[in-house]
Amino acid sequence: MNVISKKIEKLLGEIEVPGDKSISHRSLIFGSISEGETIIFNFLKSADSLATLDCLRKLGVEIEEENKKIIVKGNEYKESEEILDCKNSGTTIRLLSGVLSAKPFYSVLTGDTSLIKRPMDRIIKPISMMGGKIYGRCENKYPPLTIIGKKLKGINFKMDVASAQVKSCIILATLFAEGETIIEEPYQTRDHTERMLQYFGGYIEKEKNKIIVKGKQKLKGKEIFIPGDFSSASYFISASLIVPDSSIIIKNVGLNPTRTGFLKIIEKMGGHFETFNKKEISGEPVGDIKVYYCERLKGTEILPEEVPNIIDEIPLIAVLGSIAEGKTIVKGARELRVKESDRIKAITTELKKLGAKIEEKEDGFIVEGVKKLKGTKVNSWNDHRIAMALVVASFIAEGETIIENVECVDISFPEFFKKFASLGVEFNFLN
Ligand code: S3P
Repeated sequence: MNVISKKIEKLLGEIEVPGDKSISHRSLIFGSISEGETIIFNFLKSADSLATLDCLRKLGVEIEEENKKIIVKGNEYKESEEILDCKNSGTTIRLLSGVLSAKPFYSVLTGDTSLIKRPMDRIIKPISMMGGKIYGRCENKYPPLTIIGKKLKGINFKMDVASAQVKSCIILATLFAEGETIIEEPYQTRDHTERMLQYFGGYIEKEKNKIIVKGKQKLKGKEIFIPGDFSSASYFISASLIVPDSSIIIKNVGLNPTRTGFLKIIEKMGGHFETFNKKEISGEPVGDIKVYYCERLKGTEILPEEVPNIIDEIPLIAVLGSIAEGKTIVKGARELRVKESDRIKAITTELKKLGAKIEEKEDGFIVEGVKKLKGTKVNSWNDHRIAMALVVASFIAEGETIIENVECVDISFPEFFKKFASLGVEFNFLN
């Protein structure tokens, strides 16, 4: 499916965005390994989080839906007769692999054409150190993965990539292991797993950049409310910043500081926002954000240590940088090359088509702001975050922009177009 999107006049209003994707995955997984029932409110029904739900059902976990609530009955997993299809979801394959490595049976996990090219050696290494048996294609690098569940033991592990998925895989495996695990992160990544572990009655310690998890922990099912996804909100935040005369309020959105690095970048670029009604719900900070149009965004430099907390928003930083005054430089973001697409190549290639002055670098890009972008045909590379970033760019590009292959927004934000339409934006879909 392709969409024609046009330059827009202004964006005004108040919205809520759907539940957080990372927290939705984790709520299902934690529910499935806890004693008793877990009731999930505001679960994100997107292709990625539904892939986790489907895999868990194949593993014998009882999951029901009742009046918009998801109810997970924690019980022992059983061996799946079928291959577990994680579809496009890195979080599904990496987190489930942690749990399945400790389960006394055989599992095979695979995914779509993008997922089977994503690196899994980063989880195979620590799981093998724990005594797990996990194998992958191309000398243990890529999915499909085969796991033969084993008794695991805790490890001392220094991560060489900053990845919340890898950290979470190791934490989940440790919950079934003997002894304790110490994980050292190069930079702090999103901490939803650590927060949820505590919320479900588990214990975790943090000392600077080290996380200490005890093995053999017993967790208890809970009611859990999932906040709006900050990454989904960031498309509205960006649109409001760059479309003249705009101002938008996004309500009940997750404000976990390991996720909101994008707000700091906006501040560095001279943008204005307010956060209010702040509270903590189910162990996560939540609040409302108001963002205003900024007449003079200015370029900024993004440093490697800032990257993990803005990892999914970097395509949007390229869009903001493409019309900001001066240069925006992103460094230390090599990880973007192994996401759902090579996001460095994808966003630089597509923004160039719209007239942006952007240069691809091995570990990021340099973009120098131009006066205006010009609508043309661009492609999503079948990557949800590229598709949505290009739609935001189209709002300020002269004339019409055709964005090809936009059905991938379903991966994280099936209501993406509907939400913008609720603020008066018109789209024309071509099949
Ligand atoms: C996620 C972690 C990040 C992020 C992804 C979701 C998670 O990936 O890009 O969208 O839920 O833990 P990495 O752990 O690979 O950085």
